[in-house]
Amino acid sequence: MEKSTTALAHPNIAFIKFWGLKDETNRIPSNGSISMNIGCLSTKTTVTPDPNLEKDTLTLNGVSVRGAGLTRVRQFMDRLRQMAEGQSFVHIESENNFPIGAGVASSASGFAALALAGTSALGLELSERELSGLARFGSGSACRSIPGGFVEWVTEPHSGNTYAKSIAAADHWNLVDLIAILSEQHKPVGSEAGMREAASSPLQEARTRDAKRRLDLCRQAILNRDFEALAAVTELDSNMMHAVMMTSEPPLFYWHPHSLAIMKAVKEWQQEGLAVTYTLDAGPNVHVIATQAAMGQALSRLRQFPFVMDVLKGIPAGPARLIKGQS
Ligand code: DP6
Repeated sequence: MEKSTTALAHPNIAFIKFWGLKDETNRIPSNGSISMNIGCLSTKTTVTPDPNLEKDTLTLNGVSVRGAGLTRVRQFMDRLRQMAEGQSFVHIESENNFPIGAGVASSASGFAALALAGTSALGLELSERELSGLARFGSGSACRSIPGGFVEWVTEPHSGNTYAKSIAAADHWNLVDLIAILSEQHKPVGSEAGMREAASSPLQEARTRDAKRRLDLCRQAILNRDFEALAAVTELDSNMMHAVMMTSEPPLFYWHPHSLAIMKAVKEWQQEGLAVTYTLDAGPNVHVIATQAAMGQALSRLRQFPFVMDVLKGIPAGPARLIKGQS
């Protein structure tokens, strides 16, 4: 067997969301985004080149993957092979330590881990920026799982270079992400297809035009550890993205009535002085971001909802990293 390489990456939760590409071929996002890596949750991926293979193979948590999921991964590996000298196809074994189908985006941690393990297995040495820029071709949000801690996805205005970089280390602010799992079903319309419709919403232009202001507010709130300011801009940004989704053609309703019940409860808890806020990705599960001081209360209150199936807990985490190099 050839040398194998293993990498680990965390998923991330965006405070300022990515929803829409202004250049689909080069995967340039319509607006910048800011996120936090979610520790405790991770994807571990091992890539093993094998000259006897005729195509890449993929197993996820020990189960062989075919169809669209495999095609997406093979296309990503083709891109890596174009960059590398080695042309070997590879075995890819990926494991998530969080439930698949729990509505926690595994594509971000999955493609971040694959970008790192895959480039390393093919002998490529990339900078963090190059690796982040590459990971976005697997999944946009994956570029934000390459650097550590609190991360911003930027596009340089002149060069057009697009990549994510850390704006604060994981230990800068000990927030916690409590993910209230409401559904374990896969979403009927994936992010890629959903965001292709974003431009059909008359609200998307207003959303992207205002993005710089929200990014500035969010970055500043993080740097100042100002929870109130972070909560205000995080909720606004999540609501704006869902407003775009709901007004696209055809409309997309990713949240459920139960998601809204939690969002309203969070607003009430804030009135009581609890430092909590909410944000939702393209799915019904609610990420309740809390300070360490508010975590215990928030967790026990979330568990009291009869429809909450589980609450996953994550703290800010470091960058994607190699855990087993080439042997
Ligand atoms: C709603 O990165 O999953 O989570 O590039 O098509 O894989 P693809 O999209 P993806 O979209 C993430 C959208 C989001 C918001 C965010 O994480 O910024």
